[in-house]
Amino acid sequence: MAEEAVLEFLHQNDEIVDSGQFATQSRISHDEIVNVIKSLRAFSFVDAQDIKRDSLVLTDEGRTYAATGSPEVQLVNAIPPEGITPKELENKVGSQIFKIGRQYVLKNKWAEMGKSLVTRKVDTIDDEVRRMLMRIQEGEVLNAEDVASLKKRKLAASQTWKGYSVKKGPKYARERRKPATDLTREHLQRDDWKNLEFKEYNFKAKGFPVEGGHLHPLLKVRRQMQMIFLQMGFEEMPTNNYVESSFWNFDALFQPQQHPARDSHDTFFLKEPSTTKILPEDYVARVKQVHESGGYGSRGYGYDWKREEADKNLLRTHTTAVSSRMLYSLAQKPFAGQRYYSVDRVFRNEAVDRTHLAEFHQIEGLICDRGLTLGDLQGVLQDFFSRLGMSKLRFKPAYNPYTEPSMEIFGYHEGFKKWVEIGNSGMFRPEMLLPMGLPGDVRVIAWGLSLERPTMILYGIDNIRDLFGHKVDLSLIKSNPICRIGVQ
Ligand code: PHE
Repeated sequence: MAEEAVLEFLHQNDEIVDSGQFATQSRISHDEIVNVIKSLRAFSFVDAQDIKRDSLVLTDEGRTYAATGSPEVQLVNAIPPEGITPKELENKVGSQIFKIGRQYVLKNKWAEMGKSLVTRKVDTIDDEVRRMLMRIQEGEVLNAEDVASLKKRKLAASQTWKGYSVKKGPKYARERRKPATDLTREHLQRDDWKNLEFKEYNFKAKGFPVEGGHLHPLLKVRRQMQMIFLQMGFEEMPTNNYVESSFWNFDALFQPQQHPARDSHDTFFLKEPSTTKILPEDYVARVKQVHESGGYGSRGYGYDWKREEADKNLLRTHTTAVSSRMLYSLAQKPFAGQRYYSVDRVFRNEAVDRTHLAEFHQIEGLICDRGLTLGDLQGVLQDFFSRLGMSKLRFKPAYNPYTEPSMEIFGYHEGFKKWVEIGNSGMFRPEMLLPMGLPGDVRVIAWGLSLERPTMILYGIDNIRDLFGHKVDLSLIKSNPICRIGVQ
């Protein structure tokens, strides 16, 4: 409607001299007229010149008084002929009107304001302030003195008004036809496509940002970890079984059946199917024996090992369960050294807090070969963590049921300027390796760490729930940068 109004007016007249007046005359809002003018100008339908004017507008307070009268007149009108106490008068008009009105009433000498009685000194008063305010609303121009007084009382303020004067442009037409953007089935059916004007393609327009296909930070860091392992000649282990038997997760790792980690407070056991069906029986027998009475130079734990306990299915609590399967199958063939790694999910029955979830990812690496030593382990950890950008390492003696010796790994974080715990490691015990059938001189060095911790450090996330789970902000996933670890 606004567009037709502008084009039609220009058809009949040479010029719209002032878009503001034009808006008032045609009863269309000025904003709407301005939008139309800008759009018509962009397509050369019109030429438009800017007009700027200082105009006076009422403040909120000014607008209220234009409607209800100035405070001073309201105040005087509230004084009855017999007079009133100041308190009563204040209650009648409200403290705001009382306070403001009072000054002007006194100045104009419209009333006597005694301590105990207020009496009026005039019968009728003309609300000149209100009249001025109303004239401004009507668009009238006031004299400079009046304007100054209203501005001083903050009832009116200057505003720069912006509008246009408009003439026909080089491409002026009485009507603007919207070019069609798509050739539709209806156009073909109605056969009106021949008469349509089609919008030209804009081959320079940028497309919408792609909505899907974003990688989670954990996936990006996982890829970097995988690249590091591959560069170091490691082969990935098959980790595609979240459900594992207690046997491979614990027993094969020489973890006694009374160990607290095997409690349901720490481990999720499966209800259905609650037990595993197949285990290699002769190997199971050797594991039972090493737990109960030892062998291979060990005294064992000296307890009654129960098959039912080993059969229980669980959600694997560490990817070392995968390592135990891999080493067992390796032992079934003529021995050749191997380097294995994995990065996958594990589960623990933990209370969730800023740094713990009931599921997380573990990075696991192991090397098996004849005659490896603790020095080899330290060397390979040095190599691995240097590639992650941490080349200052320290080791602290630790305990795992399946490794001896065991070492916690600390790395000096150059950013945090302190030593942070970055992983756990060790050499697998003979009680674990020999029952599998591995040759007696084969040693296995291994280490593990979480994927979440380095990811949080790299991406500056300090609450794990912001990284993983239902509370994650999807825009983090959509906008996080590619991860590049270590030396390029
Ligand atoms: N499995 C250990 C853990 O869950 C990590 C580890 C792996 C330790 C290999 C030693 C050797 O913390």
